[in-house]
Amino acid sequence: MQEALDFLTITDREAVDRLTATLFSHHLLIVGQTGSGKTTTTLSLLGQLQQLNQTAIILDPTGEYTKLPNAITYRLGDNCYLEAGKLTVDQLLTTLQLQVDPGLQAKLWQAVTDLQIQHNIQDAPGIYRRLGRSLADYQADENQLGAWASDFPVRDLFAQLIEEFVVPFADDRADYTCLGQQYDRATINHYWPLLTAIHDQLASPTFRALFDIDHHAGTMKSELNFILKMFLHHRSSHRTLVVDLSLLKDYEESQRLIISLLLKEILRLRLHDNAGFPVNVIIDEAHRYLPKDERDLADNGIFQLVREGRKLDLKMILTTQSPLDLPARLRSQFSDLLVHRLLDQAEIASLPSAGLTLQDAGALPVGQAALCVFGEAPTLVKVNLPEWRKAGGHRD
Ligand SMILES: Nc1ncnc2c1ncn2[C@@H]1O[C@H](COP(=O)(O)OP(=O)(O)O)[C@@H](O)[C@H]1O
Ligand SMILES: [Mg+2]
Repeated sequence: MQEALDFLTITDREAVDRLTATLFSHHLLIVGQTGSGKTTTTLSLLGQLQQLNQTAIILDPTGEYTKLPNAITYRLGDNCYLEAGKLTVDQLLTTLQLQVDPGLQAKLWQAVTDLQIQHNIQDAPGIYRRLGRSLADYQADENQLGAWASDFPVRDLFAQLIEEFVVPFADDRADYTCLGQQYDRATINHYWPLLTAIHDQLASPTFRALFDIDHHAGTMKSELNFILKMFLHHRSSHRTLVVDLSLLKDYEESQRLIISLLLKEILRLRLHDNAGFPVNVIIDEAHRYLPKDERDLADNGIFQLVREGRKLDLKMILTTQSPLDLPARLRSQFSDLLVHRLLDQAEIASLPSAGLTLQDAGALPVGQAALCVFGEAPTLVKVNLPEWRKAGGHRD
């Protein structure tokens, strides 16, 4: 019979039954210093979850999980993309790692709206011309724009942004019934450094790939939110989904935001349609993707999923080097821990586990851990390498 804890070697046989009952029913935090075996343990655990027919979604910022067998893998920029219309202007700017003043932000918001009109209401290519257009015309178009019509061609955003600077003539030819008659060149010049920064970022290979700006007809790429929706709705024969976000590996702010948004989307989809099977959500080195400012924690997808996921059958598996890198409010949500080598008393003291000592945790060799289930004494375990790792040797 398939044992639920085959990925571990546990000498204390009596502990096995108790641990089996609880381990896969709570969020799990895997901690330990770099090189202590967290990623390997998570890969082994995922192999175990596959054998138990459990569903898992790995948001993988580094691409380390793409080697996992029997998984569906989507690689951002390769066979999947993010639809820019899913982002607010604020979020779009964060994704591009750009900061602009409120004046330009308003223009950007207007440009996105206008492209949405052009694309969804006018059903025409290119930008939405404001020059010479009557206010009444514009009003009518804007009124038609529903919340459903959010997508827009990002490739035209810069050109549209320039169009947002049209104003009436400044003399007695001024016609105040139209959006504009000339470009406000002084203001365009004022914003020129920021405008070109937006242009350059959108023209860079990374963001072209992220938003699928060079879309070629006939190529099959899926939208990230759509992938999650399909995966959560149809329990496919493949129960493991890896979303490789390494396209953005040099853009930590973007990764943080996109991970947060995807987790919120998972929560939203589950609230809407709880298909009735548990889903494990995995993020390695999670501390990197938490907000720098703890006041932003409540709005972060990792925190929300940990706090609200349980009742929706969503279980979070996080790894982190030091438990102190996680805000206490997040740490305290985890009752199950796999503790690899830790060398700091303060780190051990921060864990909600009874009886784990620095002596124990500091002496753990690579691949060994203390399994701490709430209210019980820690059990020493050895993590078995997954079969595919044993067979193929090391492929790091
Ligand atoms: N259970 C294990 N058995 C054998 N080797 C292991 C085990 N866990 C980790 N290792 C080895 O130790 C190294 C570091 O492991 P890794 O999982 O990358 O650590 P971390 O994610 O904590 O930095 C890797 O080369 C890996 O092959
Ligand atoms: Mg690792």
